Amino acid sequence: MLAASTTAIGWVIFTITVLGWVVYYFANRRSAQAELGSEVELAPNRKPYYDDETLEGRRLERVQLFGVLLLALIVIMLPLYWVFEPHRQAGAVSGKEGRFVSWGGKLYATTAEGGFNCAGCHGASGGGGVAPYSVSDPLTGEVKAVSWTAPALNTIFYRYDESEVKFILVYGRPFSPMSPWGLAGGGPMNDQQIETLIAKLWSLQIPREGCTEDDPNCDVGTLPASEKQRIDADATTAAKALVAAGKYATVDEAMGEALFNLSTSSGAYSCARCHTQGWSWGDPGPTGQGAFGWNLTGGATAKHFPDQADMESFIAAGSEYGKRYGVQGQGSGRMPGFGAMLTEEQIQAVVEYVRSL
Ligand code: HEC
Ligand code: HEC
Repeated sequence: MLAASTTAIGWVIFTITVLGWVVYYFANRRSAQAELGSEVELAPNRKPYYDDETLEGRRLERVQLFGVLLLALIVIMLPLYWVFEPHRQAGAVSGKEGRFVSWGGKLYATTAEGGFNCAGCHGASGGGGVAPYSVSDPLTGEVKAVSWTAPALNTIFYRYDESEVKFILVYGRPFSPMSPWGLAGGGPMNDQQIETLIAKLWSLQIPREGCTEDDPNCDVGTLPASEKQRIDADATTAAKALVAAGKYATVDEAMGEALFNLSTSSGAYSCARCHTQGWSWGDPGPTGQGAFGWNLTGGATAKHFPDQADMESFIAAGSEYGKRYGVQGQGSGRMPGFGAMLTEEQIQAVVEYVRSL
């Protein structure tokens, strides 16, 4: 705001200066005479000038007074400049953030609005959606039209850090409707555009509990209680359906499987969409047998994580590029962390389910 008022003051000074020059120009033109008569009388450098009396009297005082006034102006303006400079810089930073969000918003918009259609697949506010796609059978070559679940993006920074999201945007998920967008991945966007898209994604995040308004990109704290209740309600509904189908005796026992396959209003960030082939287009193969994420069946996971608590903290934190996990695993940053979205009990339930696969 201060930066804006400094700009306003700047404009006023600029306008006054320009007007001053215009007035000076016309006044000067009027007093300038067309040349008539002898040059000896009219040439300014040959005209007799003021006498000493006039030169050293009031005229000199006036010029000196001007000098003092200008000096005073400089003495006041310089410290003022120092006082306002930090505010100006802060204003420039927040202005930049706003501009990035609005530029990113143009890229995020639907095709009809001139954007790259993130909104068309992931929803205008990033709540998730579906994407039309065709998958072909690797053996028979048979092609089939499907609707691929596009995950929610309004929680993306709950699950990934910024560099991981940048990787997804640049390289896409080449086997899915999510195409690469960055030049390095073969897409149309330069690094600057990817950065503005990331700013747009930050602006879409469900505000975190424990973050202040001053820090729009705050990444501490967890989902607000209302959102957690929504996940819990969705998972309970799904668990009840499993009990009704006779798969489990109690809702508590069914919770792990329900969370593994969780979808709908919670925005489809479940485990199954990466670990069960075909889940994303409604034609799931054997549960957890691996797709984008590893095969979790046949006891492999328990071998990789002999200690269940170790596995729980892996699910909470997600994998990190180059970092070790489990016994001999090395993360790529592509496995999201769920600690900010699911409760400890929920993570425990889903881990127990995965270990039973
Ligand atoms: C044609 C539909 C489509 C378009 C357009 C699209 N996406 Fe996606 N996006 C998807 C699908 C489907 C997935 C999930 C792929 C999978 O199953 O792993 C996805 C995944 C993602 C992910 C990873 C989410 C996660 O939790 O795994 C991010 C981030 C993302 N998209 C951002 C964007 C942005 C930003 C744009 C715009 C430049 C965009 N997408 C355009 C369909 C689309
Ligand atoms: C966006 C896709 C994605 C989602 C969603 C996802 N995973 Fe993963 N998962 C991966 C990838 C990729 C890996 C491989 C590790 C890596 O590349 O860093 C992995 C690795 C794992 C591993 C380690 C397997 C091993 O033996 O090394 C476990 C266990 C796991 N995921 C469980 C889960 C559970 C439980 C959930 C749901 C709460 C889940 N994943 C959700 C992509 C995903």
